[in-house]
Amino acid sequence: VPGPTSLDMARGFRSIRADPLTFLTSVSERFGDLVAFPVPGPPALLVNDPDDVRHVLQVSARNWRKQTVQYAALARVTGPGLLASAEPTWIEHRRIASPAFHHERLIAVSDQVRAAAAEAVEGVVTRRDLSEGTLVDVAALTHTIGLDAVGRALFSADLSGQAHQLLTATSDAAELVVRLGRSVLPTARWAPTRTNLRLARARRQLDAGSATIIAQRRARGSRTGGVATQHGDDLLGLLLDSGLSDQAVRDELITMVVAGHETVAAALAWTLMLLAEHPQAQDRLRAELAGHGRPVTLLDHRDSLPWTRAVIDEALRLYPPAWALSRRSQEDDVLGGRRVPPGTLAIISPWLVHRREDTWTEPPAFRPERFLEQGAGRTAYLPFGQGPRLCIGRDFALGEMVVVLAELLREHRVDVPDGWSRPAARAKVALHPDGGMPLVLTRTEHR
Ligand code: HEM
Repeated sequence: VPGPTSLDMARGFRSIRADPLTFLTSVSERFGDLVAFPVPGPPALLVNDPDDVRHVLQVSARNWRKQTVQYAALARVTGPGLLASAEPTWIEHRRIASPAFHHERLIAVSDQVRAAAAEAVEGVVTRRDLSEGTLVDVAALTHTIGLDAVGRALFSADLSGQAHQLLTATSDAAELVVRLGRSVLPTARWAPTRTNLRLARARRQLDAGSATIIAQRRARGSRTGGVATQHGDDLLGLLLDSGLSDQAVRDELITMVVAGHETVAAALAWTLMLLAEHPQAQDRLRAELAGHGRPVTLLDHRDSLPWTRAVIDEALRLYPPAWALSRRSQEDDVLGGRRVPPGTLAIISPWLVHRREDTWTEPPAFRPERFLEQGAGRTAYLPFGQGPRLCIGRDFALGEMVVVLAELLREHRVDVPDGWSRPAARAKVALHPDGGMPLVLTRTEHR
């Protein structure tokens, strides 16, 4: 299998670490759909062909497990939560958590998500006079909303008291996870390196935050009748009722905070940027929301707001927050017509797959219309993954995005500031706009 040499890798070491997307793009342009990286032991492959991608994530998913450096690093923060765990724990926890994401539940939490968005928008509006338009870092705004929405909807908890601490701890932890995932030499967990010490501090903060949330719920449960099996029907209630240990509940809680707020926050920031760059698409979205006639719910991403949904799908195509997925094979398998041995590492980048010229017309262009056409390019589209490990929060995330866009853009518009240039996409745990996303927010009636 063709690929860069060890010398290429050594020469590009710094830039690869600083900007892995540019590196992955250049190797796939140079070497094609299956690229081998020079590593000792079983091969490490970049897998770009949509059929191979489906093979790894879906068709042969039992063979391709999450035993990779990426997930080992993540598990140092989340423990064996849903995102990082393997069977049989994974299947049991997925069964316990699933009802928290069912339709009825998504309808039930719509008010909470709307309130989270409204309060954050209100916070910006009351602090500034928006009649003339004000520069707002919408990435910071969507971060706050993302965390608040997860807290309210999944744990019925007001995280605002701990928001600052949790946000700092999760983003610090995420940064360190990325660093560990990319480190060349594995360091012992106990070694007092700077990264290990910072990670331990972030973990302590996350542990303290989740312990408070769990203790509050247990106390509430015992006050309201003392029946140990009645903790409520949100995710936290389901986890506590299932009899999982507090440690396992903590792991799922942190997993949802990590997986559920940064991703949505980044996706919303990129969506708002694309809407600011394309005023007509934004006007059409505002008109669709205005014609909706009732408050938007988490299920309205399905079929009642087709343009809004197409905009979101297109933003997730261009800027997939989960920019790289990884799996390791247990047994012999075949990829790209070649036999690969057990232990093979497969790296899949939705960023690359979403920009394939053979599937998408004019890949870099923002054209939401393409998602209104029947089935266009769907085989090469995986912002939420594919197969059994598909994102459990997919509908929640799409619903949250629709609700937040409705709250934010109903009475305001976003524009790019003078001298605009797009922030670079920074590949952290999620794909973030480097340096935030400063856009001009203006009240529409004053325009
Ligand atoms: C899994 C993307 C929002 C929780 C995944 C995977 C992707 C993904 C690609 C599969 C990873 C893999 O196969 O290696 C996204 C994106 C989101 C989003 C792009 C937002 C736009 C959320 C939300 C939650 C969540 C809101 C929870 C509240 C999870 C969990 C898993 C997961 C727990 C692991 C599922 C399992 O393996 O059973 N996500 N996600 N995600 N996501 Fe999301």
